[in-house]
Amino acid sequence: MRSTRNEKMLLPVVMKLVIILIQRWSLGRMPPIAAHGMELLVTVLETSVVKRLVQNLTKLRDLHLDLIDMSSVSLTSFMNLSSSLMSLSLKSCRLQGRLPDNIFQLPNLRELNLFDNTELTGDFLLSNWSNPLRFLDLSKTAFSGELPKSIGNLKFLRQLVLNGCNFTGSVPASVGNLTQLTILDISNNHFRGEIPSSLSNLRELSRLDLSNNNLSGPIPVSLSFLKDLTLIDLRQNNFGGEIPDLFPNLTKLTDAYVSDNQLTGNFCEFQFGSSLQFLTLDNNRLYGCIPKSISNLVNISELDISSNNLSGIVNFEMFREFKKMSTLALSHNSLSVSINKNFNHTFPALSNLELASCNITNFPNFLNTSFLRLDLSDNRISGRIPKYKLGTGKYLMFLNLAYNFLSSIELLQWENLRFVDLRSNLLQGQLPIPPSLVDFFSISNNRLSGEIPLGICTENEMERREGLIIKDLGEEEVNAFKGGLRK
Ligand SMILES: *[C@@H]1O[C@H](CO)[C@@H](O)[C@H](O)[C@H]1NC(C)=O
Ligand SMILES: *[C@@H]1O[C@H](CO)[C@@H](O)[C@H](O)[C@H]1NC(C)=O
Ligand SMILES: *[C@@H]1O[C@H](CO)[C@@H](O)[C@H](O)[C@H]1NC(C)=O
Ligand SMILES: *[C@@H]1O[C@H](CO)[C@@H](O)[C@H](O)[C@H]1NC(C)=O
Ligand SMILES: *[C@@H]1O[C@H](CO)[C@@H](O)[C@H](O)[C@H]1NC(C)=O
Ligand SMILES: *[C@@H]1O[C@H](CO)[C@@H](O)[C@H](O)[C@H]1NC(C)=O
Ligand SMILES: *[C@@H]1O[C@H](CO)[C@@H](O)[C@H](O)[C@H]1NC(C)=O
Ligand SMILES: *[C@@H]1O[C@H](CO)[C@@H](O)[C@H](O)[C@H]1NC(C)=O
Ligand SMILES: *[C@@H]1O[C@H](CO)[C@@H](O)[C@H](O)[C@H]1NC(C)=O
Ligand SMILES: *[C@@H]1O[C@H](CO)[C@@H](O)[C@H](O)[C@H]1NC(C)=O
Ligand SMILES: *[C@@H]1O[C@H](CO)[C@@H](O)[C@H](O)[C@H]1NC(C)=O
Ligand SMILES: *[C@@H]1O[C@H](CO)[C@@H](O)[C@H](O)[C@H]1NC(C)=O
Repeated sequence: MRSTRNEKMLLPVVMKLVIILIQRWSLGRMPPIAAHGMELLVTVLETSVVKRLVQNLTKLRDLHLDLIDMSSVSLTSFMNLSSSLMSLSLKSCRLQGRLPDNIFQLPNLRELNLFDNTELTGDFLLSNWSNPLRFLDLSKTAFSGELPKSIGNLKFLRQLVLNGCNFTGSVPASVGNLTQLTILDISNNHFRGEIPSSLSNLRELSRLDLSNNNLSGPIPVSLSFLKDLTLIDLRQNNFGGEIPDLFPNLTKLTDAYVSDNQLTGNFCEFQFGSSLQFLTLDNNRLYGCIPKSISNLVNISELDISSNNLSGIVNFEMFREFKKMSTLALSHNSLSVSINKNFNHTFPALSNLELASCNITNFPNFLNTSFLRLDLSDNRISGRIPKYKLGTGKYLMFLNLAYNFLSSIELLQWENLRFVDLRSNLLQGQLPIPPSLVDFFSISNNRLSGEIPLGICTENEMERREGLIIKDLGEEEVNAFKGGLRK
């Protein structure tokens, strides 16, 4: 029934238009595309329809069937696509099986987008890359195996996006022949080996994403020839050696993600590029001080250099000009962060401050913003934290002040607070009542005493919180609650 209706509605229109564009009407949000006054509403296509589309439309140039459920369509029906086809887009079509090789051999194909067909495989090892492809997106498909050297023949390619497939092997040096590339994204695969130095030929490149593979070796300094780079993502690989001085030469670079590698080098001599907005270097092996030149990052929004081996004294003044800062993470180094009592500068965009294990003595005064996460655990902060110091607290979700010397803290019923860790402080007196929606609340190893208020752990609550509250009041430890917990 459905396919008959589809054919009647679809084919006459398609024949006339040459370009068809059908969008799924998803959850009533997207209006159907109007095609010459006719509204097309197609959500499922079947093999017979596709066969006819493909066989009779000998002049078809663009075929876009994104979001249409084609799980029952046999992929062989795409064998006879018109040789005039220039653009084929089958995003999120639930295609299953093996893509016919000849699609890669269509002589005029410029754009092939197969994004998000997780059961679609294919093999372009044997294909003859004769077509003038500009745009190839195979992300979130089950394409696998090694990239063939012949990929270097696709010399018109501007965007190569292979994110989240199952590719293995090394990145062929011939990728360096794709000199028109503006986007190269091979993230979330199993590539290994070194970055071929030929990548420095890709002078048009603006986005280079190699993240989450198993690449190793040094990061070639020659990447600094790629002057148009705006994003470089090398996260979650095995890169080692000294971190190269790439950044000052890449004057358009806004996003640099280099976390979770084995890079070393003296951070004191690190050269920043002032265009950076995102710089993550956490979980590497950098050592040395935080250089004063870091103050030049006037547009920085996220700076994460936690979990390295940095040392020295950091005067918080050096971040004064970070007007757009939303995340600052310096945790787990050997830094001593000094925050002057009179430092009253505010960071209007600050939402995440991670200064764990930073030898801090003063609770910061500048938190009067809409921050979400605050981690000041394992420092030397003492005394009382009055509620105004946590600002409005309205958006606060994560608060970790464990392993300090706090004697009291005022917690309000902030509605977004989910995680509160206050263990191993010197908190005295009554148990502070945790906000009602907290999922994790730990206050063990303090000097609390008195009764545990009834409301804190009714049976329903306990269940909802999976017993975390109970566990972490730390009855057996330094706290001295009377009468224990009521059941
Ligand atoms: C497709 O073409 C064949 C002949 O080549 C014809 O018999 C058939 O009716 C055509 N289908 C449509 C839907 O026009
Ligand atoms: C493709 O077209 C040829 C003739 O041009 C025909 O023999 C063949 O069966 C067609 N294949 C499919 C899958 O439709
Ligand atoms: C590739 O093209 C060459 C000629 O250019 C041809 O001899 C060869 O058979 C083709 N290979 C495949 C797998 O199509
Ligand atoms: C990826 O390929 C390996 C073999 O190379 C296979 O064992 C594995 O199941 C594949 N994973 C996915 C998600 O397809
Ligand atoms: C393509 O790249 C390979 C390896 O980098 C190189 O040997 C070859 O000369 C290049 N071909 C062209 C046409 O640039
Ligand atoms: C990554 O590569 C290294 C060798 O360079 C190898 O020892 C390791 O097992 C690989 N890891 C994964 C997850 O494939
Ligand atoms: C990087 O910039 C410096 C100074 O502007 C220059 O001496 C150097 O040659 C540049 N390096 C590259 C690879 O462009
Ligand atoms: C900072 O951002 C502003 C506005 O986006 C831009 O005009 C300026 O050039 C940037 N500064 C640097 C050093 O990149
Ligand atoms: C960290 O640096 C210290 C010296 O500052 C050195 O002794 C130690 O081995 C380094 N740790 C790592 C993991 O590199
Ligand atoms: C911030 O502190 C300086 C002195 O350190 C003072 O002159 C200034 O008025 C203070 N600003 C605010 C808003 O409190
Ligand atoms: C912590 O800071 C104090 C000064 O406030 C300093 O004397 C001490 O050496 C620092 N500790 C570490 C481990 O850096
Ligand atoms: C926090 O900000 C509010 C306005 O957003 C202001 O009224 C209040 O005085 C500020 N508190 C502190 C301690 O700066």
